[in-house]
Amino acid sequence: MSSTLTDRLETPLDYAALPADALVERIRARKEELNAVILGHNYQRVEIQEVSDYLGDSLGLSQEAADTEADVIVFCGVHFMAETAKVLSPEKTVLMPDLRAGCPMADFVTGDALRRLQAQHPGAATVAYVNSTAEVKALSDICCTSSNAVRVVESIPEDRTILFVPDRNLAAYAAEQTGRENIVAWDGYCYVHDDMVLEELAAARRAHPEAKVVVHPEARADLLEQADIVTSTAGMVDIAEREEAVIFGTERGLVDRMKKRFPLKTFVPLSGAAICGNMKMNTLAKLAWCLDHRQHEVTLDPSVQEGAARALQRMLDLSGGWTPPSEEEARLEAAGLRSSGCGCA
Ligand code: 13P
Ligand code: SF4
Repeated sequence: MSSTLTDRLETPLDYAALPADALVERIRARKEELNAVILGHNYQRVEIQEVSDYLGDSLGLSQEAADTEADVIVFCGVHFMAETAKVLSPEKTVLMPDLRAGCPMADFVTGDALRRLQAQHPGAATVAYVNSTAEVKALSDICCTSSNAVRVVESIPEDRTILFVPDRNLAAYAAEQTGRENIVAWDGYCYVHDDMVLEELAAARRAHPEAKVVVHPEARADLLEQADIVTSTAGMVDIAEREEAVIFGTERGLVDRMKKRFPLKTFVPLSGAAICGNMKMNTLAKLAWCLDHRQHEVTLDPSVQEGAARALQRMLDLSGGWTPPSEEEARLEAAGLRSSGCGCA
């Protein structure tokens, strides 16, 4: 079957009545027609992962969004990820299957609240974890992801206070890894990772003493201390490829996919309850509807777009580390005409 605009159905619920293979066929046909690419986060439902052109962690997905030649990006993840894709590819149409798929951690900090914190710490550099709104990114000096937070913090001069938003656990991990004592952490967290507890880790270790324990840095410090490896979701996929037995301290979606890919290996979730309901809001039916109707489009205010692009680009360009502000930037900054940037080029 090749889908045409005339055979499209009205609502996502109408699509939910179709069999899964018909939905997959429709998604593939429409994707071709629109020259679209489907980007899927590692926590998506397995059936969404199977129709994604690119799967990855936040950093990999950002890079893919910046590089793709497609005209349309369909983002199967949460809202801040689709915003990031739009920031990095402003000329492209960015769609989400369900606009309500937000990240509660990102919602911990608003632009106004961050401005107030910045006013209390003049001269500090602001690091925004990518799990934040585009508005917050635009107010920040540089972004980071779970896989480069330590490197981003290291790129900022040691004597400069860092305001780290919104994840207190990732901030604590970066502080511990870098030995920095001047990090002011926002009190936000991810409910999925913050809820994992030591008792669950101990029980999983007792049941699988041979397994490596791999934990995401959004988890609490006491859990990270007990982990064999702390890494992002993409880092976990690499570990799954080389290890025979792994206890995954992260969301179940990634564990389910690894189990499917390597059925003979021992892969277990650290916590059976670690499920991100927000990530799971995307379904095949909503994805088919989204492609057929070219909805929901993610758009951004141009000033937010510009500021967030600067902070994200600094992160993507980081390989060179800290670059001091130019003479002109320093002059504007001293005159209060430029917000004090971290100076990463
Ligand atoms: P990763 O960047 O490691 O994929 O994490 C994103 C996320 O939302 C984790 O909860
Ligand atoms: Fe946000 Fe946590 Fe869900 Fe990731 S797992 S999208 S940080 S709520």
